[in-house]
Amino acid sequence: MTNSINMLLKPYIKKVNTNLVELIESKKPEKLYKYIGYQLGLYDASFEKVADVKGGKRLRASIPLIVTKHIGDGEFAMKASMALELFHNFTLIIDDIQDNDETRRGRPTLWKTIDTPQALNAALIAESLSFECAREACAHLPTKQAQKWYESFQMMTYKVFEGQHMDILFEKEEQVFSAQYIQMIMAKTACLIGQAFSCGFALQAKEDLRKFATNLKQIGEAAGMAFQIQDDILGLWGDPKKTGKPVGSDLRCHKKTLPVVHALESGSRSARQLILEAYQKDLTEKQTDSILNCLEVAGSKDFAFNQVREYTNKALTILDSTPIDSKLKEKLTEIIEALGHRES
Ligand code: IPE
Ligand code: IPE
Ligand code: MG
Ligand code: MG
Repeated sequence: MTNSINMLLKPYIKKVNTNLVELIESKKPEKLYKYIGYQLGLYDASFEKVADVKGGKRLRASIPLIVTKHIGDGEFAMKASMALELFHNFTLIIDDIQDNDETRRGRPTLWKTIDTPQALNAALIAESLSFECAREACAHLPTKQAQKWYESFQMMTYKVFEGQHMDILFEKEEQVFSAQYIQMIMAKTACLIGQAFSCGFALQAKEDLRKFATNLKQIGEAAGMAFQIQDDILGLWGDPKKTGKPVGSDLRCHKKTLPVVHALESGSRSARQLILEAYQKDLTEKQTDSILNCLEVAGSKDFAFNQVREYTNKALTILDSTPIDSKLKEKLTEIIEALGHRES
């Protein structure tokens, strides 16, 4: 039995949360920054600080802390970790507006709690805070190297929102091929996870450590692909009590998640017809059940599970061939494996 992803990341969460609260409380106007605090699970809906933080897994924030615990200089790691978590949450605030989702992490989404215009303000402030932390994370490096990394961090906005653009366009497309789907999830999800895996190396002052950043990026991207496909599976068959997100929301939005893309590409004619017809308008409960059943019969659920395994294996193969600290390798292997089996 492998450790759950939440168990593996637990040792890092408290420190990240303390630093995030400190940052938020150092800024004004208080109210605006508390919106971000709510999104991060640090404040409740009355904008009071909570004892029991419901801020998600903190996956992206934990990876740089884990990497730098095992190698070299880690002073910059907390700033990188905060930059990643703030960036992730900036994209989630916008994503929940775009997907019209009312629940995340078992609580009302930010736009549902305040309103969409103010949630958009909070998202953009979270992005700026993220860039502020990123700038501090690379301040110890010579200017040229610092600039190179900072630019790679800034590029994430292009990547994620190119991905979101495709994701939304695909809702209305009759035919989305798996190659298009792969391109979309690489952009919207995997690139940021690649950044999380690589930055602990990319920000090192020593070239003999920095040189592994490219491999770590590839490892994180492959793990990120598995992560998004698992998210697609959980969105259809997951337990909302564990995911904290409503099940069926992707179907309601007519999303072309991997199981749906697979069924459209290789399922029977009747499966294709059933999905395309249901995706013309609002889905009834009966249509939702029929699609879920048809995705299982078409082998699309198993196909998606296999793809999670394949991308997980790809990440592990690259990790295996990368000559870094062996204890770090063990830890990252555990995390990548746990991501492939995650239920939340
Ligand atoms: C949700 O990410 C968005 C995706 C890229 C699928 P997470 O599942 O990491 O969200 P939290 O931060 O743990 O809630
Ligand atoms: C994941 O979006 C990518 C981003 C948030 C940018 P999804 O829409 O697939 O993720 P969930 O299921 O809402 O977390
Ligand atoms: Mg969403
Ligand atoms: Mg989305």
